[in-house]
Amino acid sequence: MALKLSVVGTGYLGATHAACMSSLGFTVVGVDTDAQKVAQLSKGELPFYEPGLDTLLLQEIESGRLTFTTDFSAVADADVHFICVGTPQSKDGLAADLTYVKASVAAIAPFLKDNSLVVGKSTVPVGTAQMLREQLSKSAPHADLAWNPEFLREGFAVEDTLKPNRLVVGVVTDRAEQILKEVYASIIALDTPWIRADLPTAELVKVAANSFLATKISFINAMAEVCEAAGGDVTVLAKAIGYDPRIGHRFLQAGIGFGGGCLPKDIRAFMARAEELGAKQALDFLREIDEINLRARQRVIDVVRSDLSEDLTKYKIAVLGATFKPDSDDVRDSPALDIAAQLHAAGAKVVVHDPKGIEPARKRFPTLTFEENVENAVVDADAILHLTEWKEYRALDPQRIGSIVKSKLIIDGRNMLDRDLWRAAGWRFHALGRTD
Ligand code: UGA
Repeated sequence: MALKLSVVGTGYLGATHAACMSSLGFTVVGVDTDAQKVAQLSKGELPFYEPGLDTLLLQEIESGRLTFTTDFSAVADADVHFICVGTPQSKDGLAADLTYVKASVAAIAPFLKDNSLVVGKSTVPVGTAQMLREQLSKSAPHADLAWNPEFLREGFAVEDTLKPNRLVVGVVTDRAEQILKEVYASIIALDTPWIRADLPTAELVKVAANSFLATKISFINAMAEVCEAAGGDVTVLAKAIGYDPRIGHRFLQAGIGFGGGCLPKDIRAFMARAEELGAKQALDFLREIDEINLRARQRVIDVVRSDLSEDLTKYKIAVLGATFKPDSDDVRDSPALDIAAQLHAAGAKVVVHDPKGIEPARKRFPTLTFEENVENAVVDADAILHLTEWKEYRALDPQRIGSIVKSKLIIDGRNMLDRDLWRAAGWRFHALGRTD
């Protein structure tokens, strides 16, 4: 008989996983403590923006295979339980907060039937899976636990879930691996690499991958700083080094750096965990990666000041982009929004535009001014900052925009705009890591 699945935590990861597993033909129940989220999802409405997931969710709800509830006893029917709750940075330090992971395992434990498998997907400090196994061995000794990290990117969540570039499963028993092979059979059939690991390695794979990606971005941003000092051009440098297949072009886009709910918190939690394990020195370089990343935000502000004035109180600055990346409405640790807030705090009149992220951004920074229409945002501006690389910003006409601003100053914080085009229209064009 086909396996039944439960997904605990229906945020970004959980909602995507639940809808995707349902689309593979499984009966899936999503459980969350947030009644409002559950009500919305049950109607087939997505509480956040993710291309393609809205249609998939609705389709799966209508199929009858996918349901959502706040009642944890609903998991009693399921054979496999995916833990997809958040592990945010703790309020009092760098470490990850495991409250929700522990609470969700405790909440489902009384309802676990014989031979059921609990599968952690959340990003956790190494050692968490073992600790949860011990927790389960007391409350539900008949259940097994495995770890199956998730590598999905916002903006590509459905594709990354249904066609991942690898599946990693941390297991203790052969049976757990067999069950997971059954769940992912149709994905394995696509020749997706399958990696069986022990629990600590599976947990580490996830944070190692995100640390590598963060390092790659900060590496190119460090090169951008050197290019600025030496009169070079980081975009040409990145293009040139990327042709070496050992280096590759991806994640070498210099600019205002990484943000979001994953990379920043994951590298910090990884450092904190390494220190607990007595391996602090091994990850000290990640502190530098974090600092290079945060410095990129400051460098944009320095460029604004050096072009306009140290005193920004008389200037209107239009910020294009609030989300941490395009095709998402996520503003968690968004470099764009951070820069907007810093300029606002420095006394500038800041107007922020974003195609999808205005509401979440307003919640986070209610004192900033937001504008739904790009032209209204830039009208009479003394400077435009291009900080999130939404496609529509690349389509802006420098001539047209030039006719409505007060001063033709544009700073490309993502190295994505056509510099020649903007300069030909009379703009002062600055970009991070490019000197001429
Ligand atoms: C990241 C990882 O890429 C996923 O593999 C992982 O599963 C996910 O975190 C997670 O842990 O759940 P995501 O947070 O969606 O995914 O965003 P990325 O596409 O990695 O971008 C992160 C940030 O880096 C963005 O702010 C982006 O603008 C920035 N970035 C990316 C650059 O500044 N330069 C680049 O070349 C690439």
